[in-house]
Amino acid sequence: MTAYDLEPGDGVHPGKPVTVDRYTVGARINHWITAISLVLLAISGLALFTPSLYFLTALFGGGQWTRAIHPWIGVVLFVSFSILFIRFWRANLWKGEDNIWLTRVRDVLLGHEERLPELGKYNAGQKFVFWGMSLLILVLIATGLVAWDQYFFRFTSIETKRIAIIVHSLAAVGIICVWIIHVYAAIWVKGTMGAMTKGRVTGGWAWRHHRKWLRELVASRRSNAGTPRTPAE
Ligand code: HEM
Repeated sequence: MTAYDLEPGDGVHPGKPVTVDRYTVGARINHWITAISLVLLAISGLALFTPSLYFLTALFGGGQWTRAIHPWIGVVLFVSFSILFIRFWRANLWKGEDNIWLTRVRDVLLGHEERLPELGKYNAGQKFVFWGMSLLILVLIATGLVAWDQYFFRFTSIETKRIAIIVHSLAAVGIICVWIIHVYAAIWVKGTMGAMTKGRVTGGWAWRHHRKWLRELVASRRSNAGTPRTPAE
């Protein structure tokens, strides 16, 4: 069996219950900086988008501050997500079992997971979220730079800036929708939040939702038995 989606720090520990390391401290800090940035961007962006939400600028010290801070938080999100991307892209590559998962999405929603194929570290829904976020963040940073007049005004025409702002707003609505799906799924699938807060899940959770990944972990533990292991980050 080729371990196609084991990531650094993933590990399984025997015991009652069995525990499985899913995210290192570094990955979790990286994730939460990304998450906080997106929430701040959504609030400040919506405040600038429509007069009815202008009152939200008070959270950032007023209209001028909101206008000044929003692009810089965008830069933080872009850098932070890029690091997250480098960490996770491999485990999000599309596999044969993802097509089967998609055709049986009804069973996913009804909780009949025994009818689904064994999955690696992520399921097809999580992979859609991952690639959707990646694409939308690229669009947001590109169009955001075009509209960032303080530094880049002279590089593009007014017409180009207008188109950029429309595309920027549509991409922002898109990523807010993807974010809602992401958070809903994290809460809906019990035991998932612990992966991003404590860094680990139970063996039962891994067996139920990501059995192929768990089997790979157990196999790699067996093949490493006897060789000294460095503790995960
Ligand atoms: C603020 C609310 C958020 C919550 C509660 C949340 C929660 C979680 C949880 C629990 C996981 C672990 C899922 C698993 O291992 O199966 C996760 C993974 C992940 N999250 Fe979030 N998240 C939030 C926001 C975000 C944002 C804003 C982004 C990116 C813009 C993001 C990107 C990711 C990525 C890339 C993963 C790894 C999953 C994958 O690669 O498919 N998250 N999140």
